Formats: sequence, structure tokens, C-alpha cells
Amino acid sequence: RLLIQSEKLESLGRMAAGVAHEVKNPLFVIQSGLDYFGLTMNKDDEAANKTLALMDEAVQRANNIVLGLLELSRSEDFVLEPNDLNGLVDKSLVLIDHGLTEKSIYLERDLQPNIPNVLMDFHKMEQVLINLFDNAIHASPKGGTITIRTYTRRLAPVSRDEGIRHFERLREDDDVAVLEITNTGPPINDENMRKLFDPFFTTKASNEGTGLGLAVCKTIVDLHKGSIRIENIEIPEGVRVSVILKIAD
Ligand SMILES: Nc1ncnc2c1ncn2[C@@H]1O[C@H](COP(=O)(O)OP(=O)(O)O)[C@@H](O)[C@H]1O
Ligand SMILES: [Mg+2]
Repeated sequence: RLLIQSEKLESLGRMAAGVAHEVKNPLFVIQSGLDYFGLTMNKDDEAANKTLALMDEAVQRANNIVLGLLELSRSEDFVLEPNDLNGLVDKSLVLIDHGLTEKSIYLERDLQPNIPNVLMDFHKMEQVLINLFDNAIHASPKGGTITIRTYTRRLAPVSRDEGIRHFERLREDDDVAVLEITNTGPPINDENMRKLFDPFFTTKASNEGTGLGLAVCKTIVDLHKGSIRIENIEIPEGVRVSVILKIAD
């Protein structure tokens, strides 16, 4: 069954890549046209300006979906190398700093000093972190807290109910590094919890989310033969995402 599933994913990926390539060029033509009209249009025509702004937003959204689809399907330029997880965290934090400040979110860093290198594609994992931080910032209330933690541990023997996927990739006794991003905020209900990783599943307004973020994260973590899980936590109430990666030895 796992084999069939991965074949299905692969053909879905090929289709996604095909669609994305076909749609990219028309979108570019439309965007160029909008830029042109933006320059030549009468600035006093409020309705026309508003329409143009809406069209601009719609094209940007379509562009984001195309980028997400391409990301979902691209795996050939993927390089696993020993890399510093804490360095990755610091680099990603620079990129999302603005979002934190905007919502007055307090950031807590709890990074294990001298954590051993993990096997990862730095650029791809950076995208994972940015997507996860983006979600955490969105879910967090104003003045909330986001905690980022890294640590190593030896995986405990997998219990049956932890699910077969965990078991397939990471073996008992593997030394792993764990990256946890926790945000304060409302819990995710059971129905949504089951769909989080589905492509296009989103609870956000259409200009705020494409529903591809976690699907991309999952695809990338799968390429690393790692695991990703999302859970509600109780004290304080919030949501935690954990990514487990293999340590490079
Ligand atoms: N930290 C989080 N707290 C609460 N809900 C979350 C969190 N991260 C993701 N979600 C839920 O998962 C959905 C899918 O996330 P994602 O795939 O990144 O797509 P998008 O962010 O575009 O909606 C979100 O719309 C949201 O409902
Ligand atoms: Mg997202």
C-alpha cells in the first residue's frame, strides 16, 4: 500500500509540475499587462484603481500557488549534507522577524548548544521553517509567544499507535535532532487536524493562505526521511509542530 501511495504521489507531482509550467507564462503576461495599466491609468478613477488592485492580488495569489506546486513536485535538485540546525533557525528567524514585530509576538529561543549536525538540504529546510513560522505567527494572538527549541534524543521504540509512517523512516535507537516550534493560540479541532497536510487545505481567507504550506513541509521532510507532527498542547494553550531529522554521523 505504501508503494502505491508513493507512486500516486509521484504522478501527482508530475502533473502539478506540468500544470504549474503551463500556467506560469500566462500569469506572467497578465502581470505585465496589469503593470502597464497601472502606469498608464488615470489616477483619479477610483473604481478602476480598485479593480486593478484586486486583479493584482489575484495574480499574486495564483503565482504563490504555482510556486507551491513547483515546490511540491521538485526533488531533483535536492542535496543532503551535514548542516547546523541552530544556524538554520537563526537564518530563518531573520526572514520572519518583521512578522513577529508586527504582532508584538514574544520569541523564546531554547537551542541546544553545540547540537550535532543533521543531514539536510539547507535551502529546502529553510523553506520548511519559514512556512512553519508563518503559520505560528498567523495562529498566535497579538502579544502571544512563539517558542523555538532544538535538542537531540534517542528515539524511543515506536509504539503501535504512533503510526506506521514514523516507523518506516526512523528506526528505534536512531539518534535524532528535534526542532519544535510552539505558538500560543487556539487549538486545532479534530476534523481539521486530520486534513492539515492535505494540499489546498486552509482555514485562512483567500488572500492569506494557499493551503500548500504544510503539504510542502511534509514533502520536504519526507525527502529527508524525517518526520513532522502537529499537536495541540494545553499549558499554555497552543499548537506545537515537531520536526525530527537524522543526525549526520
Ligand atoms: N500553528 C498553527 N496553529 C493553528 N492552526 C494551524 C497552525 N499551522 C497550520 N494550521 C492550520 O493548518 C492550515 C493549513 O496550513 P498551511 O498548509 O500552511 O496552509 P495555509 O497557511 O496557506 O492555510 C491552516 O490554514 C491552519 O488552519
Ligand atoms: Mg501556511
